Amino acid sequence: MASGWFETVAEAQRRARRRLPRSVYGALVAGSERGLTTDDNTAAFSELGFAPHVAGLSGDRDLTTSVMGQQLSMPVLISPTGVQAVHPDGEVAVARAAAARGVAMGLSSFASKSVEDVAAANPQTFFQMYWVGSRDVLVQRMERARKAGVVGLIMTLDWSFSHGRDWGSPAIPERIDLRAALKFGPECVVRPRWLYDFVRSGKIPDLTTPNLASPGEAAPTFFGAYGEWMQTPLPTWDDVAWLREQWNGPFMLKGVMRVDDARRAVDAGVTAISVSNHGGNNLDGTPAPIRALPAVVDAVGGQVEVLLDGGVRRGGDVVKALALGARAVLIGRAYLWGLAANGQAGVENVLDILRGGIDSAVLGLGRRSVGELTPDDVLVPAGFTRALGASEHA
Ligand SMILES: Cc1cc2nc3c(=O)[nH]c(=O)nc-3n(C[C@H](O)[C@H](O)[C@H](O)COP(=O)(O)O)c2cc1C
Repeated sequence: MASGWFETVAEAQRRARRRLPRSVYGALVAGSERGLTTDDNTAAFSELGFAPHVAGLSGDRDLTTSVMGQQLSMPVLISPTGVQAVHPDGEVAVARAAAARGVAMGLSSFASKSVEDVAAANPQTFFQMYWVGSRDVLVQRMERARKAGVVGLIMTLDWSFSHGRDWGSPAIPERIDLRAALKFGPECVVRPRWLYDFVRSGKIPDLTTPNLASPGEAAPTFFGAYGEWMQTPLPTWDDVAWLREQWNGPFMLKGVMRVDDARRAVDAGVTAISVSNHGGNNLDGTPAPIRALPAVVDAVGGQVEVLLDGGVRRGGDVVKALALGARAVLIGRAYLWGLAANGQAGVENVLDILRGGIDSAVLGLGRRSVGELTPDDVLVPAGFTRALGASEHA
């Protein structure tokens, strides 16, 4: 086995914990308040069982699918995650790994690498936007992404600026200067391999957001951009429809949990939605997306592509989501652990683990392709699902 290879996403997370400075690791763990939602995102998958066959299984299995017009080697996409000092190559390494494995890349507008560099590394890149700044500025950002060659837009709406975690939020500096170096130096020097990667690359952890820069201006810092976001009036459904119209191409709304919101998203003309609670980083107490998925699929699955993200750590989780109606899933922390553990190779390793797990589950369930999975393939305990907002338009 190649050096640095790991067997499971859980092992990648253990290595990330050992390798990253405490603050950087804490920023990836994230979550909010009590962590009820972050915990439920993974726990809910454990409550679902499989109903495997033993003979008559297919020796040849097709894991491919398409999402928003993109052909994928398996039903997994990289979910956009904001600026992270995880690895010097950051999102470019993730995009390369995804391209090497035939998987589409979601790039956050709060990322530390430019949309031009990331789209060059993976031609199947979707650019993610929040509602930050004026309409003119939003169009400017979108046009820059279009010029860079991105194949679709992801609009993320589920953010309610909740602060505070019972296990403590990591301190993150505004920028890396002498003061930050003195403050964070001690936790970095005890993580020599992480530090060595940055020293060798000649880079310092980048805490700016180049994709939010105004033309001809320097990239704002993460906190500068976050401040602008907090000042921006909150979007209405008309704003969503307006943004969707400006883009005029594949468009996903990420963060939908309720049936009534899913219907409004359809009315706004989106191509896809992702049933998601932002990986538990938003309103704590929101149930796991896998609980909300079946009702959303029932309501709008015939009109838009329905994806899911939150809590996916193994191929079996992907198969459970597909059996309950998702077209594909997006992954967040799983690839961040891989990136932290072993750079681009670590992300490829995580994608290989998921592919192996998807294939095993499809084999055991006696299916020939991921498209054949149905709710009969999983055991759903009584009271598992949550039909959020279903009564309002029933
Ligand atoms: C550290 C971190 C940063 C994130 N930043 C963003 C972001 O900038 N934009 C976005 O749409 N979602 C963001 N998310 C949410 C992810 O796209 C995704 O919804 C979530 O991570 C899925 O849950 P999982 O981590 O359990 O797979 C972030 C998640 C994490 C953990």
